[in-house]
Amino acid sequence: MTDKSAIDYFTEVGSVEAVNARTGTDTSPRLAEIMTSLVKHLHAFTKEVEITQDEWNAAIDFFTRTGHMCDEYRQEFILLSDVVGLSMLVDAINSRRPEGATENTVMGPFHLEGAPEYEMGANITLQGKGETCTFAGSVRDTQGNAIDGAKIDVWSDSEDGYYDVQQPDIQPLYNNRGVFRTGADGTYHFKGQKPVSYPIPDDGPVGQLLGHLGRHPNRPAHMHYIVSAPGFQTIVTHTFVDDDQYLTSDAVFGVKESLISTFEENPAGDTKFHAPFDFVLIAEKTA
Ligand code: BEZ
Ligand code: FE
Repeated sequence: MTDKSAIDYFTEVGSVEAVNARTGTDTSPRLAEIMTSLVKHLHAFTKEVEITQDEWNAAIDFFTRTGHMCDEYRQEFILLSDVVGLSMLVDAINSRRPEGATENTVMGPFHLEGAPEYEMGANITLQGKGETCTFAGSVRDTQGNAIDGAKIDVWSDSEDGYYDVQQPDIQPLYNNRGVFRTGADGTYHFKGQKPVSYPIPDDGPVGQLLGHLGRHPNRPAHMHYIVSAPGFQTIVTHTFVDDDQYLTSDAVFGVKESLISTFEENPAGDTKFHAPFDFVLIAEKTA
């Protein structure tokens, strides 16, 4: 009798059981597993901090404003997931790799399909601004063998900290973006500009939350890469500028030590800096 009423009627003590007992028997097992655990942890959190009614109303208002901020160009929920570390946690769980393989990090919202494919050595900076840099290295497997035909899709911000898509009236489309393919020796090199640190979009509820938490919205300077090759796992990653002031306080927790690249002054070269980085891919998962 006690057990039955505990799940028939909601009580503070039996709240989790009351909710989870309603899950239908035809529910997908994975959905049931996720929701059962979510309810358990949400209720435990609410009890631990004893949320007040005013706080709950503020939370509902926050999520409502977060939703209203979203459109096809702006995804405030992803930003929220980024700043609380959830994007990086989901990525870490889903891209565990052996020592030596290049690590993943967040994709971010500024990738564009259809960037121009260039010959090796091309310059991806269409405006000719910023501090010039040569990016060079190789794509190899974990045994050190060169990967022929690897696709390197790269994008970065401009010298004033914005991506082309954020400034359609100022920057040409595909500024600081390009696709390169390695040859038989697995090497790559291209020119661009040394990226600069920039704030994630912080004019919405997520930016306000960061402000209330005493956190800045900045990301350390980075180049974005998607590196793929047939038979290998695709990596979504960045390389970070080694002397950036935000390396240890990235607003979205994307920095991994193995992804920090040196940006060496390059007095003899035709660009101001030289940034070497070698990518190491692992074989595709076989079912
Ligand atoms: C980015 O690096 O492009 C980025 C990542 C997360 C949120 C906003 C921007
Ligand atoms: Fe970025």
